[in-house]
Amino acid sequence: MEEKTSLTFTNPYRPGAGHKPPYLAGRESEKKEFQKLLKQEIISENLILTGLRGVGKTVLLDDLKPTAIEQHWLWAGTDLSEAVSISEEAVAKRIITDLSMVTSSIVIDQQEIQQLGFAKESILISRTLNFNTLVSIYQEIPGLTSDKLKLLLEITWKTIEKENKRGVIFAYDEAQTLSDQAQKDQYPLSLLLDVFQSIQKKNIPFMLILTGLPTLFPGLVEARTFSERMFHVLFLNRLSKEHSKDAILVPLKKHDFPLDDDSVNTIVELSGGYPYFIQFICREVYDAFLQEINSGNKPSVPVQEIIQKLDTDFFSGRWDRATDRQRELLSVAASLDNCGEEFTINKLAKKSKELLEKTFSGSHVNQMLSKLCDTGLVYKNRHGKYSFAVPLLWTFIRRQELYRKITQQLSLDKE
Ligand SMILES: Nc1ncnc2c1ncn2[C@@H]1O[C@H](COP(=O)(O)OP(=O)(O)OP(=O)(O)O)[C@@H](O)[C@H]1O
Ligand SMILES: [Mg+2]
Repeated sequence: MEEKTSLTFTNPYRPGAGHKPPYLAGRESEKKEFQKLLKQEIISENLILTGLRGVGKTVLLDDLKPTAIEQHWLWAGTDLSEAVSISEEAVAKRIITDLSMVTSSIVIDQQEIQQLGFAKESILISRTLNFNTLVSIYQEIPGLTSDKLKLLLEITWKTIEKENKRGVIFAYDEAQTLSDQAQKDQYPLSLLLDVFQSIQKKNIPFMLILTGLPTLFPGLVEARTFSERMFHVLFLNRLSKEHSKDAILVPLKKHDFPLDDDSVNTIVELSGGYPYFIQFICREVYDAFLQEINSGNKPSVPVQEIIQKLDTDFFSGRWDRATDRQRELLSVAASLDNCGEEFTINKLAKKSKELLEKTFSGSHVNQMLSKLCDTGLVYKNRHGKYSFAVPLLWTFIRRQELYRKITQQLSLDKE
């Protein structure tokens, strides 16, 4: 009876985009790097948190926020949606909105504003740096969007500074969605980079943290080469074996849950150390164990069932969006020895000659990879090589191939 009650605590695992895990494992070195950035008197380095889908960028970003606030930083920012990416004005509005969220209770230094020549009624009426005040100052400033934004941030800082704040952090998640739109003559990404570079040069401590998929940093460098020097890039990798075990076991610590070493090792291996998979698998294992124990059986990790569920819930949707020819190319990639790391155009073209009747030429591979990058299935790294952008996608593709071959063989046997 006692055993039963100890096992009915709710399932602690949280698979899901941005869901705070029961225990944030590892990431100590990333947190230390962040601490260093917080100590900057003059901001010369901003932060990029990047990595594959589900590696834990969003939850790490959330975890950094209280540290910054404790050290007297203001923290502004949100998810960047596609809509922000459309125009320069949309970026400006985003920044003003986010800033106003943290400044709306700060009383304006009227004298400062008047000295700058902003004696407009509407500014003087509002006592605080709320959204309306910021917008009316912004509208008063002449010039291009970037001029207006730079001066607005400068003016705002003069007031914030008096509140004993170290600075303001602008944290933007899913920042890979931000891109310049030359065909529409709109450069929202360049605007963001120009504005922050310019105000940081003036010693205004406004820091940028951008989070996103591995396409993020190359995109920034393409827009503005100075991005290379402006950002400290932290590439979040999968968790080590030890940290994976922490992610699995720490949430069970206070409970008498019978997860043995073998089961833990199986989960570590199955997840490849990828945080989303750890949460997903652990949630399944927990439920399966509970059922077995309650029916008086000895529990074990239901490996096949979990793989099946991951294939259906996580991989299939992404795979189904690829065209037949793209799938063929991805299958060629998945057959390469080192495909979990990276692959090249040459290797793909060569391997396609071994495996396919309708082969791929180098230039064809190049074109297709670029499409696959756009749809987020692969990405190009800084050395011009390619990798799968979805963790462990290659294992799924291999399973599909095996399944295809078996069913093909079975139908041949029938004939
Ligand atoms: N260090 C960690 N320890 C344990 N669980 C983690 C860790 N990091 C992330 N997770 C879990 O992994 C899942 C994915 O995390 P998150 O949404 O932050 O990833 P992401 O990199 O932002 O993904 P995406 O690219 O889709 O935005 C969540 O369920 C989260 O709870
Ligand atoms: Mg995220």
